[in-house]
Amino acid sequence: MYTRRVLPTLDKRVTNKTRDGPRIIILTNNFCNLACYSCSTLSDKPWGSNPFRDQPYEIPTHELEAFLANIEGFNPDWWIRFEGGETTMLDPDHVEALVGACKSAGRKVDLLTNGFGLVEGTRFRINPELFDGIILDQHRQNENDVKIVSRLLDMSGYQAYNIHILNEHIDLERMRTGGLSLGRKCREWGESWALWRGVVYPCFVSPVLDGWNNSGYLIRDALIEAGYVYDNPDLTALMMDPDKFIPVEFRLICAATCWRGGKDVVKQFTDYVEGSE
Ligand SMILES: C[S@@+](CC[C@H](N)C(=O)[O-])C[C@H]1O[C@@H](n2cnc3c(N)ncnc32)[C@H](O)[C@@H]1O
Ligand code: SF4
Repeated sequence: MYTRRVLPTLDKRVTNKTRDGPRIIILTNNFCNLACYSCSTLSDKPWGSNPFRDQPYEIPTHELEAFLANIEGFNPDWWIRFEGGETTMLDPDHVEALVGACKSAGRKVDLLTNGFGLVEGTRFRINPELFDGIILDQHRQNENDVKIVSRLLDMSGYQAYNIHILNEHIDLERMRTGGLSLGRKCREWGESWALWRGVVYPCFVSPVLDGWNNSGYLIRDALIEAGYVYDNPDLTALMMDPDKFIPVEFRLICAATCWRGGKDVVKQFTDYVEGSE
């Protein structure tokens, strides 16, 4: 099983509240204040240029609630992770309602963020205490934001955060070599699940793959056809056995075009990601 390496530079303030490993990712929105080079969720690409960025989207609270109800029995100890785009660009009340939905469902929740909208001036815009953990991603261009946010977190006594330092963004387009043999099970499957615009994906890359391929909604439509949708009462059964239920169209496209399949990419990712636990 693929596990992230914990680097020696791991921030000492990390507690076991910020964790990697199996998780359920909520792609809360598809917009961001930054446009990092080769962003994995295509935030550097213009609006209208691909299916992931056809128009601005943010998850309605009722959709998350219905999804959580339908996965009630699915690994109840798995954490929920909010990612975007950039979740902190959402209205704080909306973020609070989304976290509330997770809490009501008995799930722990953490936030992967570049830090942007957590703070306004010298106060928190979004209450960090909502989250069981926060991972602050320091890309080169937002060092100052991360500095301010981490200082405020320290001052407030909030302990459950970690800083990822990304010195360099990988050229993901170059990695899309189709490193998997066609139809083979990807090692990511079931390691994480992701909810994007009502559809449930068996890893964290595939929600964006139609966008990378820019060939319509092939992956998305295949998953919808197979029942991987937030309001399917049988969702848990489908998620428990992806080998059986994930459709072949999905397998082929993902095997041929995923940037995660490239041999070097796993090494590069593990080389600079600081993990915890
Ligand atoms: C798309 S971001 C969304 C969350 C948030 N905006 C952030 O940057 O933390 C999700 C993760 O993908 C990473 N990522 C995106 N594009 C990348 C690239 N080209 N190379 C390496 N990591 C990348 C980000 O650093 C972050 O950890
Ligand atoms: S901060 Fe995150 S979502 Fe925004 S452009 Fe950078 S990697 Fe992409």
